[in-house]
Amino acid sequence: MPTNLAPATPDNIERAARLLRAGELVAFPTETVYGLGGDATSEAAVARIFGAKGRPRFNPLIVHVPGLAEAEALAVFDERARIAAQHFWPGPLSLVLPRRAESGLSLLASAGLDSVALRAPAHAVAQALLRAAGRPIAAPSANRSGRVSPTTAAHVAAELGDQVALILDAGPCAVGIESTVLDLIGDMPALLRPGGVPLEQLAEIFGHIELATSGDAAPRSPGRLPSHYAPERPVRLDATSAQPGEALLAFGPEAPPGFADALFLSRSGDLAEAAANLFAMLRRLDRPRFTGIAVMPIPGVGLGRAINDRLRRAAAPRR
Ligand code: TXA
Ligand code: MG
Repeated sequence: MPTNLAPATPDNIERAARLLRAGELVAFPTETVYGLGGDATSEAAVARIFGAKGRPRFNPLIVHVPGLAEAEALAVFDERARIAAQHFWPGPLSLVLPRRAESGLSLLASAGLDSVALRAPAHAVAQALLRAAGRPIAAPSANRSGRVSPTTAAHVAAELGDQVALILDAGPCAVGIESTVLDLIGDMPALLRPGGVPLEQLAEIFGHIELATSGDAAPRSPGRLPSHYAPERPVRLDATSAQPGEALLAFGPEAPPGFADALFLSRSGDLAEAAANLFAMLRRLDRPRFTGIAVMPIPGVGLGRAINDRLRRAAAPRR
């Protein structure tokens, strides 16, 4: 076990908070995926996040806070934003809001935009860490830019282990897919990224929501590149039969014959179970002995919208 991988005990959470306050990077669990955290008020710490991930600097980061009170010091909350936070925080929803001039946030965290994405994660370890750090923490998913997001501490160690001072290990992430990103800058709420809070739940509260999630039609979401979440092997969607040497990501009780191997996202067709398994299974099938990864069709409702979004990007032509 690498020495910087540590169980998320109270002592190690305290140590992680001290490291964050000193400008170091710490990977920590959230209910969605593991984050690569740095002090969001430090330009130098945020620059290190971009460097560690190899992330383009036009792609802004999500800033994490314990809750609404801390968030209101950083961004302007209108009535809609308060209602969203009251309903879904702590939880897998990030809100894009006007950044306060006096927020003290790194400019680089917002990639120079006058907005900021804020999220209060529900994971107990994330909450304890944010409270102990006592300052907002910028945290993208703890993977190399463009690759598959990490849902275990081991995924982080394998990909970014030498870039972080500490990785807090609290086991696999329960949701397994990133937060929903909702833009509340314009008159109409806009979905920038489908995620852990299904669109249907947002629509219940807001009525109509603009969809700004597809590659080209998403000028407001600078980081939504067509190719993302990509394993090494090519990914083929809506597979109903095998091609030579392919591994299969199956959904439902039965896999078509002829695949070199198969993993089941959910045998019972449960989309929450499939979301929790998605990234770990993509990693497990990303082996040189397979020619590619085929994925069975997955319904595009509820969490299926976020699953299909990630799979489409995993299958997109690589940069
Ligand atoms: O679940 C999550 O959201 C995880 C965990 C660690 O919290 N974090 C995460 O961060 O997925 P990241 O950096 O991988 O994705 C952030 C997304 C990107 O698509 C980025 O473009 C968008 O949020 N974003 C951030 N700030 C924005 C802003 N001011 N305006 C528009 N989009 C923004
Ligand atoms: Mg990411």
